[in-house]
Amino acid sequence: MAKTPHAFTASKIGPLKLKNRFIKAATNEGMCKNGVISKGLVNFHEEMAKGGAAMTTVAYCATSRDGQTFVDQAHLSRDTLADFKTLTAAVHKHGAAAQAQITHAGSFTFLPKDFSSAKPISAMGGFNKFGVLTGRYTKKKMDRDDMDAIADEFVKAALQAKESGFDAVEIHMGHGYLLAQFITPLYNTRKDGYGGSIENRMKFPAEVLSKVLDAVGKDLAVTVKYSQTDGKPEGNQIEDGIKIAKILQSTGAHMAQLSNGLNVESISTMFGNPLPATSARPKNLIVRLGMAMQKKSKEPDREFAQLYSLETARQIRASVDMPLCYLGGAQSLENMDQVFAEGFEFIGLGRALIFDPNYINDLKSKARTTSGCTACNQCVTLMYTPGGTACVDAKGWRGHDAELNTIPASA
Ligand SMILES: Cc1cc2nc3c(=O)[nH]c(=O)nc-3n(C[C@H](O)[C@H](O)[C@H](O)COP(=O)(O)O)c2cc1C
Repeated sequence: MAKTPHAFTASKIGPLKLKNRFIKAATNEGMCKNGVISKGLVNFHEEMAKGGAAMTTVAYCATSRDGQTFVDQAHLSRDTLADFKTLTAAVHKHGAAAQAQITHAGSFTFLPKDFSSAKPISAMGGFNKFGVLTGRYTKKKMDRDDMDAIADEFVKAALQAKESGFDAVEIHMGHGYLLAQFITPLYNTRKDGYGGSIENRMKFPAEVLSKVLDAVGKDLAVTVKYSQTDGKPEGNQIEDGIKIAKILQSTGAHMAQLSNGLNVESISTMFGNPLPATSARPKNLIVRLGMAMQKKSKEPDREFAQLYSLETARQIRASVDMPLCYLGGAQSLENMDQVFAEGFEFIGLGRALIFDPNYINDLKSKARTTSGCTACNQCVTLMYTPGGTACVDAKGWRGHDAELNTIPASA
C-alpha cells in the first residue's frame, strides 16, 4: 500500500486552499459560558492549528439563540463577532483554516423555558422527549414559513461566520439535530412533500445548503457533516446514506464529512463504542440525562475498532465523486495510509486531537505514528464542566484551563 500518498500535500475545498488533508472534527468544547467565546476556546483551537491540522472546526456555532442545545453555547451574531474574530486570527497565525459548524438543534435542546421559545421546532410536532427536564413537553411541526425562517437563519449565520474571519462553514445535518430530524425516518413521518422518501426528507436540508452556497459559496468552503447511517434498524441505512451523498453532490456541497449515528439513539455507531458506564458520572446534569437516555436506546454494545466507519464510508466513496472527509477512529499512520489509498481526500480527527493536538505534526515528522488515545470517551463526560472538553489520560494534553474559559476572547 502506498505510504500516505497525499496526506501532506496542499488541497482545496471549494474556494479554500488547505495546507494538508487533516481536519480537526467538531468536538463540543464547552468553553462558551453563557454564550461567550472564551480565551480557553481560542487556546484550544490555536493548539489545533499549531499542532498541524489544516483546518480546525469550532463545534456547534448555533444559528440563533433558539437553535442552541445548551445555555453555555455560542450562536453566531453581532455579539460574538469580536470574540470569533480573535479566534480565527489566532488560528490563521499558524497557517491553518477555521471552520464554523453551523447548527440548529431543533428539538434536541435542553434550553430552559425562560431562555427560549415556548416550543422547540422539529420536522414533527407532539411529545418532546428532550423537554422533560425543562418543561418544554411538546414540539412544533415546522410549516413552510418556519422553513423559510430557518433557512434564512443558516444564511445569516454563514454570513456572520464570513465576517468573523472563518474560512469554511460546516452545515450540521447529522447526529439528530434539526436538519437530521428531517433526514431520519426516526423523527420524520411527515405525509407532505418533506416526508416519505429520502429524496423528500432531504428536500429542506438541501434547500438550506443551496441557500448557504448562494450566499457565501464563492468565498467560503461550504461543507456538510451528516450521518451515513442512523445505527438503528428503523432508521437510515447505508443505502439512504449513499442517496444523501448524491443529493449533496448534485446540490453543490464542496465536501461531505462522513459521520455516523445519532447523539442519543446510537452513540456507539457515532463513536465506535459506548460512553463510559459507571466509572465517570458526568458532573453536568444535562449530559447525565443524555447518557441515561442513551442507555435506554438499547443499542448493542460494540468494541472500539480503528476505522470503524470505513465499511460504510467506502460504499459512499464508490457512489460519488465529490470530495469526502473520512471520520471515525483514525488513530495511526497505517489508518491514514489506508483511508487515503481508498480515495478519501480528507481525514477528520476528533478524540486523537483532544488527546494530543500536536498529533498531526508528529505524524508528519514520524515522531509518533500511533495516537495514544484509548477511545475511553471520558472526554465526552467532561463536556460543559468548567474546564471544558478535555482528556483524562495522564499522557493526554493538559492545556485546558477553567480560568481561561471564563474570560471573553477579545478582552
Ligand atoms: C467530546 C466530543 C464532543 C463532540 N461534539 C461534537 C459536536 O459538537 N459536533 C459534531 O458534529 N460532532 C461532535 N463529536 C463527534 C466527533 O466529531 C466525531 O464524529 C467522533 O468523535 C468520531 O471521530 P474520532 O474517532 O476521530 O473521535 C464529538 C466528539 C467528542 C469526543
